[in-house]
Amino acid sequence: MKDLIRKAFEARKNSYSPYSGFQVGAALQCEDGTVYTGCNVENAAYGPSNCAERTAIFKAVSEGKREFARIAIVGGHEGESVAPTPCGVCRQVMAEFCKPSFEVIMAVSEEEYEVMTLGELLPRGFTL
Ligand code: THU
Repeated sequence: MKDLIRKAFEARKNSYSPYSGFQVGAALQCEDGTVYTGCNVENAAYGPSNCAERTAIFKAVSEGKREFARIAIVGGHEGESVAPTPCGVCRQVMAEFCKPSFEVIMAVSEEEYEVMTLGELLPRGFTL
């Protein structure tokens, strides 16, 4: 848990967020133990912006991974740390690849975090 949160903080350093100023980092652990990290990447047109969680998930999927155990998320404005809850779009993307038991770790620090399952965060999510 601590190691995954530390990796999310490392990823946060790469956040490209000149419009919101809200820097997010995520670290996704696959069932095979490998970890993919991501940060939010914003855009002047706003709409094309990508959240840290989706960056990490898309990196992993594009490298052939499909089985995911947990994700750690950290974020905040410059110099602060709050525990970000994933947006609705990211929850839906998680539901595409992850079981309801997938763990979402929302962390303020390596010591202070909350864990919820995807099933709790997205009850009755749409899948085909
Ligand atoms: N953001 C994330 O990357 N993940 C979250 O869980 C919450 C929001 C990003 C999107 C945008 O770049 C900025 O944070 C402010 O919403």
